[in-house]
Amino acid sequence: MKLLRPNKSFQVIAHRGLSQRYPENTKLAYQAALSQHIDMLEIDLHMTKDGMLVGIHDESIDRTSNGKGAIKDFTLEDLRVFNFNAQMKGDIDAPIMTFDEILTLCKNYSKTLLIEVKKPSKYPNIGALMIQKIIHHDFPINRIIIQSFDQSFIKEIQHQVPYIHYGVLISKRKYWLKQPDFCDIAEYADYVNPNYQLVNKKFVKRAHDANLKVLPYTVNDAQTAKKLIQLGIDGVISDIPDEIFKL
Ligand code: G3P
Ligand code: CA
Repeated sequence: MKLLRPNKSFQVIAHRGLSQRYPENTKLAYQAALSQHIDMLEIDLHMTKDGMLVGIHDESIDRTSNGKGAIKDFTLEDLRVFNFNAQMKGDIDAPIMTFDEILTLCKNYSKTLLIEVKKPSKYPNIGALMIQKIIHHDFPINRIIIQSFDQSFIKEIQHQVPYIHYGVLISKRKYWLKQPDFCDIAEYADYVNPNYQLVNKKFVKRAHDANLKVLPYTVNDAQTAKKLIQLGIDGVISDIPDEIFKL
């Protein structure tokens, strides 16, 4: 059984591309997602030693490539040598993608790019560089959302560039350490995107009362998606959006 979007504004988001079928955060996974009737593509960003922004989830290349080491210790040229299909999803070579390449690819499709900035405190100027690239590519601002688990990074960048949409990610650990102040978050963000296990009626009500939309991650079965929809969420971030939803 596949679900229908409960309303027109409901957002179906491909997490790291169609990442269950293709190597995550690679052109194959992004392109496969962009070719579907999804609403947003989620990507993760880190920065190389020579200041290039690249699409990858982890701080190191160990899990997703045939190499070893931290992104911050490689130049882009170094990284180009590795195959980011460590999970062997098909017999394919999958090079790392720069943010420039991702913007060029995504610009051709009418989708929103949900950009997660990983560990921004480790990469001086990552925010400014990212914005520069978005502007340089003339990427439609209304199709960009920047999100991070680092609330102070989002607060800071929103202060400098208030005309873009932002989201704050909430992990289980962060939530139980200190319950987020939704009214404070709403001062600088439009979305509060939690681990789906944190979502209940109260969570959604508090977010909506503060004017924040809720996009839970990472929902990989229709039953869970259905329950969350009944709780009033605004979209779903999934590795298999095409299997859960009738697109
Ligand atoms: O977009 C939300 C989700 O991607 C956050 O968790 O670890 O998959 O980046 P993670
Ligand atoms: Ca992510």
